Amino acid sequence: MSGRFGFVGRDSEIALLSNVAAPAALQGRPIFVFGSSATGKTTVVRAVIDSLTEGERGARSAYVNATEVSFSTPKRLFEIILNKLAGHIPSASNGYSCRQSCDTAAEFCNGIIALGGDAAASMYVIIDKVERLRNIDGAINTLIRLPELTGRKICVVLISAVVWDRLQGFSSIPDPIQMHFANYSQKTFFAILMHKQSACGADREQRTLQLWGPFIFMLTEMYSSVCRDLNELQHLATELFPVFCKPVLDGTVSPEDHTRLYKLCRPVFKEGFEKLYLHEAPGEQATEGGPTTQSSSSLPHHAKYMLIAGFLASYLPPRLDLKNFTQLERRRLTNNMLTGADAANVEPKMFTLDRLLAVFYAVLQNERVETSVAPDVHLLISSLVSLALFTKMSSDLSLNSIKYKCIAEPKMVHTVAESLNMDLRGFF
Ligand SMILES: Nc1ncnc2c1ncn2[C@@H]1O[C@H](COP(=O)(O)OP(=O)(O)O)[C@@H](O)[C@H]1O
Ligand SMILES: [Mg+2]
Repeated sequence: MSGRFGFVGRDSEIALLSNVAAPAALQGRPIFVFGSSATGKTTVVRAVIDSLTEGERGARSAYVNATEVSFSTPKRLFEIILNKLAGHIPSASNGYSCRQSCDTAAEFCNGIIALGGDAAASMYVIIDKVERLRNIDGAINTLIRLPELTGRKICVVLISAVVWDRLQGFSSIPDPIQMHFANYSQKTFFAILMHKQSACGADREQRTLQLWGPFIFMLTEMYSSVCRDLNELQHLATELFPVFCKPVLDGTVSPEDHTRLYKLCRPVFKEGFEKLYLHEAPGEQATEGGPTTQSSSSLPHHAKYMLIAGFLASYLPPRLDLKNFTQLERRRLTNNMLTGADAANVEPKMFTLDRLLAVFYAVLQNERVETSVAPDVHLLISSLVSLALFTKMSSDLSLNSIKYKCIAEPKMVHTVAESLNMDLRGFF
């Protein structure tokens, strides 16, 4: 049965967070939520904080995913947080300006103090993927000290995939309240996926509704020991359920004969796993020359957008990013398509991880792609590297200095874009 807010197996985390983040319990100590990808950190934290803000008059909250904004100084981060706390949305009518520019931490704090409203009301600042702020001078330090620096009742929630000790390199910061989101067991994966029938599109066909349970049982039994990521299991379920049901719809196997259905689709299930990680052996053409269009057609949805983002980052100068990736401006650009032939004469340039992610999220936003299932961006990138669509230009361990280049054929990227009903001409 699904628990509070529709989450399975997270009752204790939800209860603990609801307690420590409750307005009456706030004492200025930050909350640090950590765990592997797709363990429900983002969705659980947001649901709990939303319910707390809705339950208190005048309460404010700001949620920022640190991978969605490209910054090298905390200025942008501070401005975005302040915009969100103030309910200020940069738009054409206000010239895309932020509420207040925050060149220093002091300006940011003063901005918070000047927000007005009930000074005793709670404020929640949630920073997701906070590990990305590690190398930004003073960012984490300022965030954690916000209650002290502003004198306001602020609850700072940091969400991270790395443990606290690896995140902070400073000693004077108060220890946060730590909350670990453990990996799910096979039993929990089963219980969660049982509720994802409609999210996986499995409720479209009435005749096979009853097969969802046996199917999820087989899927979690086969995969949950090798794949710990709920997003990926859900993606597999969406892809493989039609395969599982096909013999029933064809009338060749009875819907009660689960053993036969298992047997028939076992080989496809095995293949599905390889496909998921794009570890398929590249086609013949790929070994001779560059990557093929064929290999790209099996890319999962988000990987296609990542490939496009890498392509744009390789062929467009960074100085045009702001202009290119604001919707309105993009429409006004003249159509000067970079065709396969043109692009053959233009050398792709290197781009940083930071910029790639900023372009990726801007593209998702521009195309209004549903991101409720958060993509694991690092897995996507390393998959594209192993498919020889991207190449890594430095082997340094520091995330900041890693650079990539998109070496996929421009023609192929255009084909991929077309498969997503996306026209890249608007960008060139
Ligand atoms: N316990 C759960 N019950 C139901 N859905 C879940 C659960 N945990 C995660 N999910 C779903 O899995 C997806 C990934 O969760 P997310 O919160 O983005 O994970 P994380 O932030 O830890 O990477 C979301 O669509 C979320 O709704
Ligand atoms: Mg998350």
